[in-house]
Amino acid sequence: MDNENSAIFDDVKALLGNLPKERNQLVPLLWRVAEHQGRISKSAMEAVAALLDVPVADVFGVASFYTLFEDLREDLREGVPAYICSDVMCALKDSQKLKEAAEAAATDRKVMVKESACLGQCDYAPAAWIGGKILREASCEQVRTAVREVSYE
Ligand code: FES
Repeated sequence: MDNENSAIFDDVKALLGNLPKERNQLVPLLWRVAEHQGRISKSAMEAVAALLDVPVADVFGVASFYTLFEDLREDLREGVPAYICSDVMCALKDSQKLKEAAEAAATDRKVMVKESACLGQCDYAPAAWIGGKILREASCEQVRTAVREVSYE
């Protein structure tokens, strides 16, 4: 590992912070990388793979699947994004009500509520991703609380 890749690895390791080293933390960790580094480089994907003990191909697949990562920098200019999954599994579990709850809670906050494609949490639908935090089997109350607790730092 050269110096640049070593620095990126250390950076991603620091971003992992208190997240469990589990595959299901792939999306939250990629979020942190995208937010902090402004993009998800090949070296960062390799670091994520090593830290979570998942194949690099899986990390690339997830990072390239989600348009969220491409939109993130733009979205952050308008406010902290609150993504509510509106894909099939979550829609069947009434994710529209979560979106309405998020919008109601976000009226006086710099939180931008957006619908998103699948967040990779289908087994725990409905799902939301608010301020970098994944909510599984989310309730309207949990969404309202998450929107109110969003940090702008
Ligand atoms: S459809 Fe909502 S998390 Fe997959």
